[in-house]
Amino acid sequence: MEEMSMEDERLEENKLHFVAALSPNDAGQHHHGKIYNKADKTNSVIGAAMSLLSHLIFVLFTIYITYLCFEDYSLFSWHPTCMTIGSLLLMAEAVMIMSKDNIIASKLGRQARVRLHWMLQAGAAAFIFSGFLVIVINKNIHNKNHFQSWHSIIGLVFLVFVGFTSSGGVITLYSFRLKQYLKPAKMKLIHNLIGVLTFVIGVVTEIFGIYTLWFPKHASLSAQVVCTVFVILGGIFTLESAVKSAYERFKALYQSI
Ligand code: HEM
Repeated sequence: MEEMSMEDERLEENKLHFVAALSPNDAGQHHHGKIYNKADKTNSVIGAAMSLLSHLIFVLFTIYITYLCFEDYSLFSWHPTCMTIGSLLLMAEAVMIMSKDNIIASKLGRQARVRLHWMLQAGAAAFIFSGFLVIVINKNIHNKNHFQSWHSIIGLVFLVFVGFTSSGGVITLYSFRLKQYLKPAKMKLIHNLIGVLTFVIGVVTEIFGIYTLWFPKHASLSAQVVCTVFVILGGIFTLESAVKSAYERFKALYQSI
């Protein structure tokens, strides 16, 4: 039963890539059963460059935020640190691991990528919920009111979405067993789109975090601007592959109707 599902899944993915590659706009060249396409190659190089830049930006940004937090240690220090590791480092990697253009994962097969994807996503959720717990406890200790700023309200929405995406991910993992209720390809497209939305809300919350009163007490105004620009760029570079994959899934679904 399990083997049948995996075979079904492999066929479904092959169909997806085949239909996407046969798009009427692509000047594809058939050779020994493979389709070579100049545009695909260029896209792949751009994709690899974007994934490399996104890794670089988020690793450097996480190191910088952690440094700012632990320069002046308190319980609060764990909030930006855990949130940045969870939402930018791990969640971005979970998104990018699914892309063939990711240089770190280029040698991995689909099964291995899917496994790493949910492991990274589970790690991200653990860091994000710990970061949330820290800020709530810290506010209670200092008798401060909860959810009074845009940062905290959007952060709460993000948390709900993380829960939602994670449970949706579990359903997607077993999508072939639920195929009598919803087509697996449709379920994957929905998971893909909600995942993109969740990551965007995370990036927006992080940027609002950079504009809380805490930040300018620890870093200069120019650091604030540079961090904002880098987080936006890192976010765009991360999402490039996920948006492309959602578009391919949509095109394959549309063409199979
Ligand atoms: C995706 C990342 C983040 C999420 C989801 C998030 C979420 C939250 C939430 C939900 C609260 C309110 C808790 C409450 O009112 O009980 C909060 C407060 C706070 N966060 Fe974050 N945060 C993130 C990143 C950051 C970063 C990077 C910084 C600093 C650079 C930061 C600084 C603060 C500060 C100073 C507060 C207390 C003031 C306030 O409520 O606005 N956060 N955060």
